[in-house]
Amino acid sequence: MERLVINGGYKLRGVVEIAGAKNAAVAILPAAILASEGKSIIDNIPDIEDVHCLERILKGLGCTVNKIDNNTLEIDSSDMNTVEACTADVRAMRASYYFIGAMLSRFKRAKVDLPGGCPIGVRPIDQHIKGFEAMGAEVIIEHGAVNIKADRLVGANIFFDVVSVGATINVMIAATMAEGVTVLENVAKEPHVVDVANFLNSMGADIKGAGTDIIRIRGVESMKGHNYSVIPDQIEAGTFMIAAAATKGDITITNVIPKHLESITAKLLEMGAIIEEGDDSIRVAVDKPLRGVSIKTAPYPGFPTDVQQPMSTLLCVADGRSMITETIWESRLKHLDELKKMGASVKVEGRVAVLEGVSKLTGAIVKATDLRAGAAMVIAGLVAEGKTEICSIEHIDRGYPHIETKFRELGADIYRIQEE
Ligand code: EPZ
Repeated sequence: MERLVINGGYKLRGVVEIAGAKNAAVAILPAAILASEGKSIIDNIPDIEDVHCLERILKGLGCTVNKIDNNTLEIDSSDMNTVEACTADVRAMRASYYFIGAMLSRFKRAKVDLPGGCPIGVRPIDQHIKGFEAMGAEVIIEHGAVNIKADRLVGANIFFDVVSVGATINVMIAATMAEGVTVLENVAKEPHVVDVANFLNSMGADIKGAGTDIIRIRGVESMKGHNYSVIPDQIEAGTFMIAAAATKGDITITNVIPKHLESITAKLLEMGAIIEEGDDSIRVAVDKPLRGVSIKTAPYPGFPTDVQQPMSTLLCVADGRSMITETIWESRLKHLDELKKMGASVKVEGRVAVLEGVSKLTGAIVKATDLRAGAAMVIAGLVAEGKTEICSIEHIDRGYPHIETKFRELGADIYRIQEE
């Protein structure tokens, strides 16, 4: 087991390049198995544990996976030889559920262990199943696995009960080779939903409307491998924007799509930060104390739940009172107990937290309770007086590539140690 050690108090300065989007890449890699011929070369893939996990799952399914470099994979799924994905890797991560949609589309059957993922609340997959069943699939959940099969997979009209990124992407993947037209309503509009649709279209799918409220998919007979480049990670970018603001630094973040960051930019401006947008970069600087604000998480284009935790650290040290309302996940405020160990003044009632800004945080031994909680603790360590040690950093490694190297290059004193 490893820990991150941070000696806080350094203002971040310089330039940091953002990696490809985790939540796009983790759907695109399973979707690559839709190709019955040809290879896909996918670049701008983040070098993170969740991707390494997917590489192993793909190999286990009989796909040939060549690592061209740390951010580029070549996938050949033409000789895939099983529709069973029941391994510890599948159970360890969330996005392994995309293999259900992909195998159902290509082979009309699959057996996939139920997914794992961050402990941020109950994470049902009823909307995925509702979509698959509407297209004619029979779904049985037994012994911890989803068993699914369809004699014929037929396009359907599906209105999701909740806006779900996973269900939108999974059912869209399944519908690519269903007979006829599938119409998905009340869908998620996140940039990664659009990115997955673009990848599928590059492979030969016929998908229209991704990024709007209605997605229409006309089923095609077969799909081929294609080369594709994953979009930049809005959540990693948001994390660095907030870290720059929290340390009262001045950094330029490159390889971003500023439009995807608008809800975060708006909040930082409201707090008093300086933001300059370039074509594919964004500068964040702070030259005066920041004001506390209220944030409420919401599906895109609202404030992303995945940035709520990093943002909460900044709010802990902003002037005055701030409020956080987490509307997506019922237990995504656990990290606030860790921040309290560092001197934060926080009251939590259900999914709402009220934070009274404090003049400083102080270093402590804390835990990354989940992926984005880990990023929140890193930012806390960067601003705190003295030394912070963060345990359970395997959560962070699942989603942030080389986090300590990137922050070190911006002037932070952060390194990794082996736990005794
Ligand atoms: C994705 O999770 C992301 N994970 C999450 O990011 C992110 O927090 C979330 O979307 C929301 O943006 C991946 O992309 C791998 P949802 P997902 O389905 O797809 C309810 C991170 O930190 N729901 O959009 O699992 C659900 O309970 C991770 O990178 C149902 O009720 O989330 C939640 O309240 C953590 N039934 C809401 O919908 C369903 O069938 C949104 O969940 C599905 C979801």
